[in-house]
Amino acid sequence: MKTLIAANWKMNGDLSWAQKPEVFRQVFKVEQESVDILICPPAYLIPSLVAASKSLDISIGAQDCHFATGGAFTGEMSASMMADAGAKYVIVGHSERRALFGESDEVVAKKAAAVNDTGMIPIICVGENRGQREAGQADEIVGAQLIGSLPENTYPATLIIAYEPVWAIGTGLIPTLEDIASMHDHIRGILGTLFGENKASTVPILYGGSVKPSNAKEILALSDVNGALIGGASLDMDSLAAIAKCAP
Ligand code: PGA
Repeated sequence: MKTLIAANWKMNGDLSWAQKPEVFRQVFKVEQESVDILICPPAYLIPSLVAASKSLDISIGAQDCHFATGGAFTGEMSASMMADAGAKYVIVGHSERRALFGESDEVVAKKAAAVNDTGMIPIICVGENRGQREAGQADEIVGAQLIGSLPENTYPATLIIAYEPVWAIGTGLIPTLEDIASMHDHIRGILGTLFGENKASTVPILYGGSVKPSNAKEILALSDVNGALIGGASLDMDSLAAIAKCAP
C-alpha cells in the first residue's frame, strides 16, 4: 500500500495559494513512488487547486460535506458538489466537526455513505480526548466511534480511517509510538472482524495530530500506519513535502 500524505488546510488559504502552481511544482518535483499526496483545502478552492495541480501527482479533496443529495440546507454542500468540483476524497467526522458542530457518529456515517455514493473515498476520523485517554478508555471510545461512523454496506476498498487523538491536534503533543501502534492495531482488528482479515489489511489507516517533519519518519515507519493527516504543518508546502519524504 502506498503511504497517503493528506493535508487538511482547515479554514486557511486563499485564491493566491492556488494561483501559484509553481509552488506545487517546486515542492513536489522530487516525486516518490511510494507516496500519494492529497490536499484538502476549503471547498471554494477545490476547482482552482485541481487546475493548479494538473499534471502533478496530487489529489484534491474536501474537508466535509452534507449527507443529503440536495435541497433546503442553507450554507451546506453535498458530496456530489464536492465531486463536481474535482474532489476525490472527503474528510468526514473530523474532531472539530464533532466538537464544534455537534456531529454524531450517525451523521458521520451518513456523510461517509454519501461520499461513497458519488464514487469518492471518505476519510473517516476517530479519536479519543485527553480525559478518555487518561481514564484508559481510548480503545473502547475509538472502537465505538469507528463502528458507529462506518456507513452500512460499506466496502473496505472505498474507505480510509484516520486515527486522530483530539488532545494531539494542534497541540504539539503526540501519543507514544507504542500507543499509536497499539491503536492502529486495534482499529485494524475491528476492521478485520467486520470485513475479514485480508480485506481489512487493505484499508489505509492514517495517523493525525501534530505530525511534522521532525516526527513524521518514526510515525510513518510504524507497521499499521499507512499515512498521515496533517493540519498545521501542511500549510507550508516545504514542510508538507518534507513530511512526504519521510514515507518509508
Ligand atoms: P494538526 O491537525 O496536524 O495541526 O495537529 C491535524 C488535523 O486536525 O487533522
